[in-house]
Amino acid sequence: MPAPSIVILTGAGISAESGLGTFRDEGGLWAQHRIEDVATPEGFSRNPQLVTDFYNARRAQAAKATPNAAHRAIALLQTRHGGAITLVTQNVDDLHEKAGSQDVIHMHGALNSALCAHCEHRWPASLKMSVGQDCPKCNAPAARPDIVWFGEIPYHMERIEKALARADIFVAIGTSGNVYPAAGFVQMARHVGAETLEMNLEPGENINLFDDARPGKASETVPIWVEEMLAG
Ligand code: APR
Repeated sequence: MPAPSIVILTGAGISAESGLGTFRDEGGLWAQHRIEDVATPEGFSRNPQLVTDFYNARRAQAAKATPNAAHRAIALLQTRHGGAITLVTQNVDDLHEKAGSQDVIHMHGALNSALCAHCEHRWPASLKMSVGQDCPKCNAPAARPDIVWFGEIPYHMERIEKALARADIFVAIGTSGNVYPAAGFVQMARHVGAETLEMNLEPGENINLFDDARPGKASETVPIWVEEMLAG
């Protein structure tokens, strides 16, 4: 019996115990800032300084954060599991990479990456980006955070859909199931007969689509699940 092909989707909840705020929990980021002001292209063109400051603050916080047991367990699974593992994250922090994960698919972009709004060139973002920074490739003063804002198209969707189409197991960790297309991945996995599991502090919006759920803190539930997968 070949080892199962696993697709893992992570959200802000997996980084919560590393001290990075989630979006929709009590006092979360969207309680402190209006999405339309800091996470839309319109917000950026209206007030690029406000948006640049918002991501500079999150980048500085993420730079100081360390991965927790959930990130480390997933990295371990990637090294030891016999079958394919596709790790998709909605998070823009680099805690999966810091834990040793390879080939992390950042479908909402990454704080450590800068994007040229003019020629779409990408380069490693400085810790503190400034408004109107020149693109190192085309020299246009058009640098922006390489973050997928509301109304923009998530990255790597073709690759993600291909992985979902051949998934035997789909696991969602620390995501509220509020934002599409990520919230629809469980449906795509079910469609091909994959087993679906949610590991979340609170049940997500799409909990009824999961075969199984393990409520609790990711730093506790994920290592137990990985141990079972590796013993299996
Ligand atoms: N362990 C496990 N789950 C947790 C923990 C924890 N320690 N703490 C919080 N959670 C869960 C919450 O119960 C919630 O279901 O994590 C989820 C966080 O949900 P959101 O804040 O909505 O974050 P996320 O689902 O990643 O948001 C998706 O929305 O705003 C956009 O682009 C942004 O990528 C983000 C997307």
